[in-house]
Order: sequence, then C-alpha cells, then structure tokens
Amino acid sequence: MKQQVIIFDTTLRDGEQSLQTSLQVNEKLQIAFALEKLGVDIIEVGFPISSPGDFKSVRTIAQQIKNCIVCGLARCIDKDIDIAAEALKIAQNFRIHIFLPTSNIHIRSKLKKNFNQIIEMTVHAIQYARKYTDDIEFSCEDAGRTSIDNLCRIVEIAIQAGAKTINIPDTVGYSTPYQFGEIITALYTKIPIIDKAIISVHCHNDLGMAVGNSIAAIQAGARQVEGTINGIGERAGNAALEEIIMAIKIREDLLNSYTNIHHKEIYNTSKTVSQLCNIPIPSNKAIVGSNAFSHSSGIHQDGILKNRKNYEIMTPESIGLKKIQLNLTPRSGRAAVKYHMKKMGYQDKDYNMDKLYNIFLQLADKKGRVFDYDLEALAFIDNFNE
Ligand code: KIV
Ligand code: ZN
Repeated sequence: MKQQVIIFDTTLRDGEQSLQTSLQVNEKLQIAFALEKLGVDIIEVGFPISSPGDFKSVRTIAQQIKNCIVCGLARCIDKDIDIAAEALKIAQNFRIHIFLPTSNIHIRSKLKKNFNQIIEMTVHAIQYARKYTDDIEFSCEDAGRTSIDNLCRIVEIAIQAGAKTINIPDTVGYSTPYQFGEIITALYTKIPIIDKAIISVHCHNDLGMAVGNSIAAIQAGARQVEGTINGIGERAGNAALEEIIMAIKIREDLLNSYTNIHHKEIYNTSKTVSQLCNIPIPSNKAIVGSNAFSHSSGIHQDGILKNRKNYEIMTPESIGLKKIQLNLTPRSGRAAVKYHMKKMGYQDKDYNMDKLYNIFLQLADKKGRVFDYDLEALAFIDNFNE
C-alpha cells in the first residue's frame, strides 16, 4: 500500500532567515496563502521568540490559514515555548517545533554541555510544551553528525516524553544519500517504540545532496519531509520541496508514496516565492527553471514532436505551466521550424520551407536564438542579406 509523505514547508522560517531583507507581514501572508493553495500539510511560519516582527507574522498567519497545520519554532527553553504557544494558539491546528543539538561538536562547543544534560533538557521541554498542544515535533539538530547510538537514545526518550514527530536534520548538509538512508533504517531497527512517532527529515544542501538525501530517507521509511520552495535557505539552502514532490509523483513506482499536493500550483508558488523573496530562479533549476521544459537540439525537438515522452518525464502542464517550449537555435531542425510556423497560424502551403530553413540557419548562426517574430519575417522576405 502507498504511504503518504507529509510535506512540511519551512520557506517562511528556515528560508526567510537567509534573506538579505526580511519579509513584511503581508508578504509572508501571501506566501502562506500560496502554500495553503499548493496543499502542503504543515507551514512553519517563524520563530516567535526571535523578534516582535516574527511574533506578529506568526500570529497573523496562524489566524488566517485554515487548511494547514501552522507551526512555530522554539528552543528547549520555557520562555521560547510560552511565546511560540502565545503566537500560535489562535490557529485552528498548530504545532510547536522544539529543537536541540545532538552532535558532540554542537553540544560541546556551542552549548558547553554534555549529552546527559541534553537529554534532561529534551524531556523537560517536550513535557512542558505538551501543556499547550499534543502536536509536538522534536528536532535533533545536526543529527547528520550525531553518533547512531546517541541519536537512537535521544529519539527514544523524546518519543517517551510525548513528541509525535521526530525530525532528523542534516543541518550542515554533510550526509550522502546512502548513508543518510542508513541512519533512518537504524532508527527503525533499533528503537522498539519508533512506530509511535512520525519520522521526518530536514536536509540542507551544502554538498548539493539535500533532495537526494531526502529521497533516500523516504525509501528508508521517513514519513515527513521538510524543505523550502525553490530550495531557499541557510547557506546553500534547504531541500527544494518542488523537486521532492515531483520525484515522489514521477517515481511513484520506486518510492511507493504519495503527497496531498496540488501539483498544478507548483509553478505559481515558485514564482510567488521568487518574486517576494527577490531570489531569481536559475534557468536550469529542476522543475521550475525556465529551461526545465524547453528543448533546443534538433534531435530532441524532432523526438518531442513525434512523441513528447521521448524527452519528457513529466509535462509542463503537470506543474501548472502552459506548454512545452522548443527553442529555435542553430541546432533546430525543420520539424521545429514547422511547429513554430504552425503555432503562428501558417500552413505548409503559405511559405517555402527549403528557402525558409536555409535563411533561418543563417540567422540562427549569427543570433543564437531565433524568435517567432524573426521567423515570421524570414518566411516572407524576398532576399536575405548575409
Ligand atoms: O537545520 C536545522 O537543523 C534546523 C532545525 C531548527 C530543525 O533548521
Ligand atoms: Zn534547517
């Protein structure tokens, strides 16, 4: 039976904290509405203790969003948890997300503590937060660099204390897919009560493996993935949710999973986030880059025109884009030229293909990319001067 993968979006928390200019409340709200329309299950909207502005936007979004669980971040500190609950309590459904480092390097050189103290703080914070809600997520910060024994120990204790979701972040993007999958497998094999919680993953992209690591974790049994739209986030970013979501859909055969996402909203959500965060999308970005569904070489264009599946593993329509794009370049063949002429309303008898194709190639060699208006002009001029 196919398993649901819960989509936890942290564009407004982990993504926003990396922006050069903070988003205003109304901008965050626009993104939250886009995420709600996209159908994500949980929106992490901020870190309420961090500033009055963050508190206000968490509260505003908590009030407005009706169809997703609204989540706020807190350290294992009573005051953080109180403020997070205060900002979130107006929501129909809310989650408190508590985190604490579990790797030796973070415990010793960041917190100046030992592992037993980390365990005590974890148990206290989870039990304390439960007075506000049952929906508690606990994150083992820097889990990717935590020993398996310590990770299993703290995860088991966090579940016993009442955390309903356990998140395994690869905070510094250090893991590789096979190894990260093995960490998840170890949790499932070594912790007897593991089924009492949802296992989540949260991968960063420092080595460019955030999406690969998330997919490996799903294959190993993780049931929630965290990430951001367009992969924005600290340093090299978080796992790009649109990539994970489409991988789950397109490789359903392999992953045996599904999400509740409305895929046709992916393109619009990506554009909204890019524009409001002022982060352009690279043209070759998977799924949402402007080149992701365009075909340039003659062989590919001919193949696409015969059967789109020759070079398309998913359709642009499936993410809410209107149509395929065949770029006219010096590598384009007659099939692409004909396709563009037809798109502009011309039939074969309206122009001389041999002549047009010849002068098209001359222009394409000079210009690189030829546009429809160039092609139309070329089709009906008498002479073309080199
Ligand atoms: O990367 C990380 O470890 C985090 C935690 C707060 C979940 O963002
Ligand atoms: Zn993170």
